[in-house]
Amino acid sequence: MDRPDPKKLFVKSYGCQMNVYDAQRMADVLAPEGFVETQAMEEADIVILNTCHIREKAAEKVYSELGRVREMKKARNAAGHDTKIVVAGCVAQAEGVEIVRRSPAVDLVVGPQNYHRLPDLLKQAEQRRGVIDTDFPVEDKFSVLPLPSAKKTLARGVSAFLTVQEGCDKFCTFCVVPYTRGAEVSRDTDAILREARNLAEAGVREITLIGQNVNAWHGADEKGGVSTLGALLERVAAIPGIARLRYTTSHPRDMDDSLVAAHRDLPQLMPYLHLPVQSGSDSILDAMNRKHTRDDYLRLIDRIRAVRPDIALSSDFIVGFPGETDRDFEDTMDLVRQVGFAAAYTFKYSERPGTPAAELTAQIPEHVKNDRLYALQALVAAQQKAFNAATVGKTIDVLIEKPGRDPGQWMGKSPWLQAVILDEPCRAGDIVPVEITAIGTNSLHGRIAGPVRSAHLS
Ligand code: SAH
Ligand code: SF4
Ligand code: F3S
Repeated sequence: MDRPDPKKLFVKSYGCQMNVYDAQRMADVLAPEGFVETQAMEEADIVILNTCHIREKAAEKVYSELGRVREMKKARNAAGHDTKIVVAGCVAQAEGVEIVRRSPAVDLVVGPQNYHRLPDLLKQAEQRRGVIDTDFPVEDKFSVLPLPSAKKTLARGVSAFLTVQEGCDKFCTFCVVPYTRGAEVSRDTDAILREARNLAEAGVREITLIGQNVNAWHGADEKGGVSTLGALLERVAAIPGIARLRYTTSHPRDMDDSLVAAHRDLPQLMPYLHLPVQSGSDSILDAMNRKHTRDDYLRLIDRIRAVRPDIALSSDFIVGFPGETDRDFEDTMDLVRQVGFAAAYTFKYSERPGTPAAELTAQIPEHVKNDRLYALQALVAAQQKAFNAATVGKTIDVLIEKPGRDPGQWMGKSPWLQAVILDEPCRAGDIVPVEITAIGTNSLHGRIAGPVRSAHLS
């Protein structure tokens, strides 16, 4: 007997790595319901937009995308197929009912804490359009979400994200995350280790532990005490097959001694740290409620560099925060010059409804924000280029990830998160020494300079 065609699921994610991870968990929870993922929205029975609310532009994108999805739904309807439109992620959490009001074609709005309820919610959406679930439920979604199959895990790549912490209690005055993701919650150590082992057994070689404040993670240790991220990294590093470890995103206030020591002691922990500072001005840091000074940040960098001199640093910056003077901005430029970053994300301050900074009167004119953004971007781009150029002629270990864009090409990552392009046959999951021969705009080019150092086993 022919099996019925599987139903198709299309998920589009915006925003941070946690949304990438969540998209995979949503696919896993719908797999037992008979859904397989597709890359083609037009053939999907369910379209999930996994949204981001961090800046105004990100949030508005959702509504223009919903216009397109609605047209697609109409066309499929005319051909006799139903499509359910789901809005998930942080816009879903922040705007809930407003989404259904502005886009009546939406069948379901589901917040990030409720993905384990998707099968049930979709059944409700069969009965009526505009189902909304943005509660913060008492049950823990992580204890309900299934582990994916080994085949599915490896198909997603040899480098995987693993959420260990979610939410934020820091309440920076510009930021929506404490409202969209809720209070800071750490996942249970055993559940994290189980998931990490599952990834390793499937053939994953690199795990990035993720959380909105990943270094605020804490859990029970083996002796009933409190364990911190440094100790957790040590336990994940001990899992056979895991060759590389990373974590993101960290808050400078939560970089404790055990985490700094992990950078000294764990060879699997890659020498790259994304540590957002946002501004180099103490008065702006204070107005942002970051609870650290410029000097605290610089001293922290010194501590980390003292134990891991080859560490590369990246950061996030906001320019044009309310009240930011030319002098404040110059302090930011000066901090960037002092630290020297391998990469950085730079943003113009975006007013977010409901956050304390949106109430501040000294908003900065757009043209000033633009000028500051360009100046900062130029400085950061020059630093990034110099950092990349310094690898030319060196031999570095590259974790091979996937075929490159051109036929015969392969793509991998350096320990410092640089994309490395190779024009030679490779195998995903191998770590190979590569001599860097040239730098491109966003990548390094190289050739294999010796035998595989650490092989993909499965
Ligand atoms: N948890 C991380 C980052 C969260 S959001 C941290 O604490 O640093 C990612 C980045 O978006 C932030 O670091 C910040 O630079 C930027 N961002 C957040 N809210 C913003 C806003 N209202 N306007 C502009 N950029 C913002
Ligand atoms: Fe937002 Fe600040 Fe929390 Fe980061 S620490 S998620 S910027 S409130
Ligand atoms: Fe965006 Fe939510 Fe991540 S607002 S940055 S998707 S936590």
